[in-house]
Amino acid sequence: MAKILIKNIKGLVQCGEELPAIRKGKEMSELPILENAFLALEDGVIVAYGSMDEWEGISDWTDLEVIDADGCFVLPAFCDSHTHTVFAKSREEEFVDRIKGLSYEEIALKGGGILNSARKLQEMSEEDLYQDALARIDRLKSYGTGALEIKSGYGLTVEAELKMLRVIKRLKENAGIAIKATFLGAHAFPPEYKEDHQGYVDLIINEMLPVIEKEGLADYIDVFCERNYFSVDEMAEILAAGISRGLTPKVHVNQFSVLGGIEKAVQLGALSVDHLEELDDKDIEALKGSKTMPTVLPSCSHFLSIPYGDARRLMQNDLPVALASDFNPGSTPSGNLSFVWSLACIKMKMTPEEALNALTINGAYAMGLSDTHGTITVGKKTPVIITKPIPNLAYIPYSFGDQLVDRLVN
Ligand code: NIG
Ligand code: FE
Repeated sequence: MAKILIKNIKGLVQCGEELPAIRKGKEMSELPILENAFLALEDGVIVAYGSMDEWEGISDWTDLEVIDADGCFVLPAFCDSHTHTVFAKSREEEFVDRIKGLSYEEIALKGGGILNSARKLQEMSEEDLYQDALARIDRLKSYGTGALEIKSGYGLTVEAELKMLRVIKRLKENAGIAIKATFLGAHAFPPEYKEDHQGYVDLIINEMLPVIEKEGLADYIDVFCERNYFSVDEMAEILAAGISRGLTPKVHVNQFSVLGGIEKAVQLGALSVDHLEELDDKDIEALKGSKTMPTVLPSCSHFLSIPYGDARRLMQNDLPVALASDFNPGSTPSGNLSFVWSLACIKMKMTPEEALNALTINGAYAMGLSDTHGTITVGKKTPVIITKPIPNLAYIPYSFGDQLVDRLVN
């Protein structure tokens, strides 16, 4: 049995019993921190924590790995509830095209964007996709990510979508952190279905979903609801089919335009609605009183130079906010959540405490992991972050671009 004692912790963050599964509105500024603390883990499960003055109760442990965290903070691992970590190739050529003046939407309309990634992924072997994604996840773990949602959506054929989901299944078994799989067959219309949208919707519903259900390949179902992509009605049809196969909706909405997708997704019981760079009053009303987590992706806004999601407006309406990376080769080639934390503070005017709640408690909720992740609570099996020596917690988002996560422990 692996027993780990982390001692002399300068601040043990987000620790406590009976912490809420969601923090919303004003509660998002609450963040418990225990000073001069210890934390004990047994096989990755939190078994005890407290002030250094009290830690003798477990001093009789044998075979104990002791980590001295003098001057360092310990946090529950970041929960990244929205990523596209499985992909074939990076897309620097589109990055340069955008520098020269083309927009993300213009590049997509020329056959670039998601279709570019799909062409490359269709040609790549399952093994190579798996090895590349595993290496990416190792890097994400070094940045402090301890739970990861991964979407399909760069396949866009029956065979290639299933290939992606099988890769995610293998990652679940071997990556060493909790992973949730989301089926995003409805990421874009393949060129051969450009004039036959219903044909592709039928392919998703009749050819992809039955295999996904039979092989247990996904937890969630996603649709990119956006102009030039899937309409609200197309989204509703696909989500309803997914729900009938046991998948919960988690959707891409309101990235470039407001189509009414939030209201529909909420009606269908979505666990989260993600992007929200654009928001109107009706969207806010639809979210009130729902169980749906609004999730914003500031690194995508940064990279594409589009508006940032209005987290303050959501919180002022007593709603919760989760933050995620959206790690993908087209709109967000970084999965570093410390950078997301900085952007949330600098560009979205979230306080460091609000943003950390969005990356831990609310992120865990947005991927169905509230029971195990998001807080330092006895019985939870969450990895924890040990920081480098830092003066205070706000120093992490303040020092944007620095790597202040020393290691992830689990
Ligand atoms: O969340 N917006 C849709 N999907 C991704 C980007 C996909 C891509 O460009 O490859 C996103 O930003
Ligand atoms: Fe995305």
